[in-house]
Amino acid sequence: MVPPAWAALGHATFASPAHDVLLHGKESYRPEEVDYFVGFRPPHGFLKKLTRLKLVISFGAGVEGFLTDPEFPKDIPLVRFTDPSLAYEMAQYVTMHALIIHRQQRAFDEFQKAPLWRQLMMPRATDQTHIGILGLGEIGGKIAERLALYGFQVSGWSKARKSFPGVKSFAGQNELKAFLNQCHIVAAVLPQTPETIDLVNRDFLAQLPQGAWFINVARGTLVVDDDLIAALDSGHLGGAVLDVFRTEPLPTEHPFWRHSKITVTPHVAGITDPRMALAYIGNCVRTFEAGEPLADIVDVTRGY
Ligand code: GLV
Repeated sequence: MVPPAWAALGHATFASPAHDVLLHGKESYRPEEVDYFVGFRPPHGFLKKLTRLKLVISFGAGVEGFLTDPEFPKDIPLVRFTDPSLAYEMAQYVTMHALIIHRQQRAFDEFQKAPLWRQLMMPRATDQTHIGILGLGEIGGKIAERLALYGFQVSGWSKARKSFPGVKSFAGQNELKAFLNQCHIVAAVLPQTPETIDLVNRDFLAQLPQGAWFINVARGTLVVDDDLIAALDSGHLGGAVLDVFRTEPLPTEHPFWRHSKITVTPHVAGITDPRMALAYIGNCVRTFEAGEPLADIVDVTRGY
């Protein structure tokens, strides 16, 4: 469950008599002798067979691939990779698309095809383009802070109230409507948990102002696909930028691929950098073996 490209790096990083790096499916090993597991979406039931397991490390920030396994050993600590490099990449993705939307770049692309020399007034970032981050956590906070530097009005929604410079914080179900009412662009960064599945449905989308855009860099399960398409087709939403999907790869026959108001990218907003992740994994193992407290421990009851 470690991509082969990582394996060579892993061997180079950990090669020592104390730590063997084994690639599941490629190398033979005895499940009862594995101490550490590193992966992303192991087959359900797989981890239960590793009876000596001490620590599970997710090389993705989202850990639903582990927590949806009914046999996941919940007594073993699970840590998730939340290196700042991942958050910065995701911030680039959201910022790039927010700027394309805000600066009306799609219209200029069309004018060039004509060709047509036509200037458009830009909305003012400070009061006419309000960006909302749905999921103001570790990653969402970094995205929000960066957007605020461009002068956008930025707010975030999360379960508990948060404090990030230049970012207005909305918290809890009671404040979701007020948060959505003011978002011209809303970017989803929420983890997949039982509470977030299908959150972006008809009612949710109806709370956004006319012409708003939806960006998803979180998980496809947040979105009710048909409700999103209906909101785009009715003209209520201006467009959507989607990097994550219920089924990945996105099936070729899925209507998202060919919808004129949807931009599709193949889950690339934030790709864990193997070099950063391996340094992180090495650190986790060293910290764990020294008996020191681990950072980024997942609260398995909360789901992130
Ligand atoms: C990617 O989707 C991740 O969870 O890191």
